Amino acid sequence: MLNQTKPKPNPNPNRKTDGAKSTKSKPERAADKKPAAGSARESSAKTDKPTLMRLNKFLASAGIASRRKADKMIQNGEVEVNGKLVTELGFKVNPQLDKVVAAGRIAKLHRRKIYILLNKPKDAISTSSDELDRRTVMDLIGIEDRVYTVGRLDRNTTGVILLTNDGDLAHRLMHPAFGVEKEYLAELDKKMTRADLQKLKSGMRLSDTGEKVSECEAEILGDASIVWLKLHEGKNRQVHRMFWTLGYNVKKLERIAYAGLTTKGLRRGTWRYLLPEEVEHLRKLVELDGETKT
Ligand code: URA
Repeated sequence: MLNQTKPKPNPNPNRKTDGAKSTKSKPERAADKKPAAGSARESSAKTDKPTLMRLNKFLASAGIASRRKADKMIQNGEVEVNGKLVTELGFKVNPQLDKVVAAGRIAKLHRRKIYILLNKPKDAISTSSDELDRRTVMDLIGIEDRVYTVGRLDRNTTGVILLTNDGDLAHRLMHPAFGVEKEYLAELDKKMTRADLQKLKSGMRLSDTGEKVSECEAEILGDASIVWLKLHEGKNRQVHRMFWTLGYNVKKLERIAYAGLTTKGLRRGTWRYLLPEEVEHLRKLVELDGETKT
């Protein structure tokens, strides 16, 4: 199900709405994103568990030279780390933080972008770590790379949740201006009336905070205690609060699709990497398709 077409809002004030790119050059935009920390080595020293890598391996992984050749470059005084010449062969760097320049070229590892679709079970929370040591979605995935959830699902909500280390894409998918669609099946404590369905669909004010939610699509299913709905926004506990406002309690909630991606073929609690075409679909949806992947 990859056929979503959405309005093209402008979530980024730096971008013009007529489709023109930011007036800032790419290096300027990259500079905006850089943390204003102390020197890279200082920061790496402060990190609890920095993952250090031998300099020759780092240079090889960054595509500068083979390890043997990298050793020669190091011995020949062609390599600088954070502005200081390094000639020691066993020297280690923090690939995330240290600035390495070899023969005048900046050496960088290309961080692998990861996109995961998890069929979230109940009793798993949508954060990477929990101070109360409850099961998190990261425990279910169990990979070493750090990935983050794209938005959240309540602890007992099941179904589609995406995880990625692609901050740019995640940020846009969550941005209300793109109105990425989310489909839910809600099981209620009683049968829903047609009159209430109309209220649900036509946009309403939530009784707890007075916030206005937009119109949505919804249908009563089965014995009328199950409701399918498609939202283009994601306020905190929105589905529960919409039904509470109308006098219903949600007994079970499943997100059956996010941006058209479903859990088809994935058992509850299992996950898979997104296919390249699915990543492309997401990028297109949030207008990143013309941008270079970094
Ligand atoms: N709405 C909710 O109430 N809970 C969720 O987990 C997602 C949407």
